[in-house]
Amino acid sequence: MNDWHLFDSTAELDIALTDYLGQRLQTQVNDSGRASLAVSGGNTPKGLFRGLSHYPATWPQVDVTLVDERWVATDSDQSNERLVREELLQNRAADANFIGLKCDTANAELGVAETSQKLADLQRPFSAVVLGMGEDGHTASWFPQASNLQTLLDPAAPAFLAATDPVTAPHQRLTLTLAAVLVSKEIIIHITGATKRAVLQSAQDKHLPVAAILRQTKVPVSIWWAP
Ligand code: 6PG
Repeated sequence: MNDWHLFDSTAELDIALTDYLGQRLQTQVNDSGRASLAVSGGNTPKGLFRGLSHYPATWPQVDVTLVDERWVATDSDQSNERLVREELLQNRAADANFIGLKCDTANAELGVAETSQKLADLQRPFSAVVLGMGEDGHTASWFPQASNLQTLLDPAAPAFLAATDPVTAPHQRLTLTLAAVLVSKEIIIHITGATKRAVLQSAQDKHLPVAAILRQTKVPVSIWWAP
């Protein structure tokens, strides 16, 4: 049974999740000297990112990375790195140690090795991984029609990163695998709206990609939802 946190508005959700994540990060910095956070892109987390940017954590001791990235220039309006730089890495959080997934290789497949090197010193396990979800039940860049979806969702797969073609969404992606996401202290699913709530509630019956997070028992999962 997963742990639902229900709010009356996205504003209330963003405030509560900002405080929750900020405290978790600071607690780990206090306990071990470093913390790490992996975040997803898209529209849902913008309010959370703005709130976190003001949170009084010891940000120079916090590693921040992405769960997935579209293989576009980092100044593109489609870039998750651009979103994180513009909304999260501002104010107090400007001092965080951000490691993006995009590199200069021609495609995401060629980027796996180079980006894996960039992530080598990342604080692991993650203090928290924040996942969004699409109305098709994808999370990260684990899309239902991706030809390598089974590899992406193999909890025993050795790969930490993988390239994938969503088929039903633009841009090749570089994404953390399920195995990589499970090397974390907790997973937060951050969604809004009645449709996504219903999709998540039916995800296991419909064998949607996000169900891989719901059915695993290795890492605690909480779901943060507002209308
Ligand atoms: C991405 C995200 C993706 C996102 C969902 C939900 O690169 O798009 O990582 O997994 O979390 O698509 O996106 P919205 O919040 O915009 O609905």
